[in-house]
Amino acid sequence: MARRKPVIAGNWKMNKTQRDAADFVAALPDHTRREDSVEMILCAPFTALSTLQTLLKDTQVQLGAQNMYHEPSGAYTGEISADMLRAVGCQYVVLGHSERREIFQENDVLVNLKLKATLSNGMNPILCIGESLQEREAGQFEEKLLNQVELGLAGINMSPSLAERILIAYEPIWAIGTGKTCDESEANRILGLLRHKLTQLYGVDRAQQMRLLYGGSVKPSTIESQIQQSDIDGALVGGASLEAESFAALVSGCKAFGN
Ligand code: PGA
Repeated sequence: MARRKPVIAGNWKMNKTQRDAADFVAALPDHTRREDSVEMILCAPFTALSTLQTLLKDTQVQLGAQNMYHEPSGAYTGEISADMLRAVGCQYVVLGHSERREIFQENDVLVNLKLKATLSNGMNPILCIGESLQEREAGQFEEKLLNQVELGLAGINMSPSLAERILIAYEPIWAIGTGKTCDESEANRILGLLRHKLTQLYGVDRAQQMRLLYGGSVKPSTIESQIQQSDIDGALVGGASLEAESFAALVSGCKAFGN
């Protein structure tokens, strides 16, 4: 089986105005704009999406949102639908990020509804899962992670094309924004467990096809040893995706492992 195409997905969180987003794109090196051996995604705040749609048009960088509501339209003050994101050029949507789960009380059922709405509107979900430090120290956190995957993907009939489109990001909560990266062999072990679960759910071919990302204090200095791991197919990156130079370095770090 061909090696899975590496992914670098930037998660800008609640950072950058339209102007800042434009400055970022202007600072992206040409070789990064044209890179096609690594899948590049920028998940920007809603207000910067339209600007980025225009500015990224002639690049290989794809656009993503960081959240979405699953209903198609209606009285949901403050929410954004799949249709709206699609219309502004989004190909990806981050779903179930731990900040959404913890601060905004999103649960697995809601994440699953959002994931289905993302797929049925032609966009690709980045399903996030992760354990807190407390859960890790208490043991049995693997079970929580496997449950988050199973519940997040509930009701999905995993075809080859869906297996291409759905990304799963393992982001230990204690490693997010803390500078404490999860050791790459430990991250690989967890992603191996997830792939095993996906094999049980969908069979070996689909599980081998699916791309599993690691997230949590990924930096240009860590990416090469992470992407070399057998089950780490890419990274979801917060802080280190905010500067064009650093984003470009993350992409370069994966290049040798692209196809
Ligand atoms: P970080 O964030 O890279 O700043 O740790 C990752 C994320 O929350 O997606």
